[in-house]
Amino acid sequence: MGKKIKKIGVMTSGGDAPGMNAAIRAVVRACSYYHVDCVGVYRGYQGLIEGDFIDLTARNVNNTINRGGTILKTARSKEFRTKKGREKAFQQLKKAKIDAMVLIGGDGTFTGGMVFYKEFKFPSIGIPGTIDNDIFGTNSTIGFDTALNTVVDAIDKIRDTASSHNRLFFVEVMGRDAGFIALNSGVGAGAEEILIPEEDLGLDRLLESLKRSKRSGKSSSIVVVAEGDKIGKNVFELANYVEENLPEYEVRVSVLGHMQRGGSPSCFDRVLASRLGVKSVELLLDGKSNLMVGLINNKIETTELNKAVKGQHRINKELLRVSDIMSL
Ligand code: F6P
Repeated sequence: MGKKIKKIGVMTSGGDAPGMNAAIRAVVRACSYYHVDCVGVYRGYQGLIEGDFIDLTARNVNNTINRGGTILKTARSKEFRTKKGREKAFQQLKKAKIDAMVLIGGDGTFTGGMVFYKEFKFPSIGIPGTIDNDIFGTNSTIGFDTALNTVVDAIDKIRDTASSHNRLFFVEVMGRDAGFIALNSGVGAGAEEILIPEEDLGLDRLLESLKRSKRSGKSSSIVVVAEGDKIGKNVFELANYVEENLPEYEVRVSVLGHMQRGGSPSCFDRVLASRLGVKSVELLLDGKSNLMVGLINNKIETTELNKAVKGQHRINKELLRVSDIMSL
């Protein structure tokens, strides 16, 4: 039986994602509900090392559920990767009398939590927050749904100009090494082709599919490309290759970039963040640690941090099939 938890710290780390504030709010309010003190750590692991903390009460998180980004800021800390950095962080936690942490982020964030537990037996629970949805142990990460809506909205706009000019657009979306954003937004926005790292379509098949599209009477097309896809060296080279081989197409490229990480979270992300935030506090108070909370078949479930990091969240192949049928 670990020591009684009286004070819980919460931080966001890695890339920000819409809904992180809703998760922070849920952690803070759950702490209040269970009469436990709560401390916010600014700038992820870097703020932990520097002792950049703020006491948080239920009222400090008023009017945050609707805000994108993270009120606690975020960073990717190099210093925390060193033993010396982690020792500093541990001393800061001891000084502030923080007994356990809720870590909101992705793989890197959870790896930090695991190493920290191994070295100092410091308890933590992870909440998956990343637009990429590349975490094992949850059907959806916080921010993924909002990012999808942002991307679909952007592609709808691109479609207007693409169809007015009879153009072929390559739209690059984020996702690091994973194709979740591309696949789901591609189906949602009615893309002709979706290029993701998990499936190698091959250049010949892409050309063939675009030719077929033209023959079937389509005058404009949208191809969604995941940033991690390796079919071309990058989306611009891919576009050039297609333009050289299919001169009948006038090609343009649109890289959506960081706008995909911004904006007010969708209702889905707010509800998910609230549920995961409450559960993370309850688990810590129950003496649990080294777990990630996630959503599986609409139930909140836990996965060991180790598995969450090492396991592979696989794409839904059925979506690829649907996309093929839809793009006739
Ligand atoms: O992990 C979220 C993400 O937005 C990825 O989709 C993208 O590859 C990366 O972060 C970009 O990182 P940065 O904001 O450091 O450029």
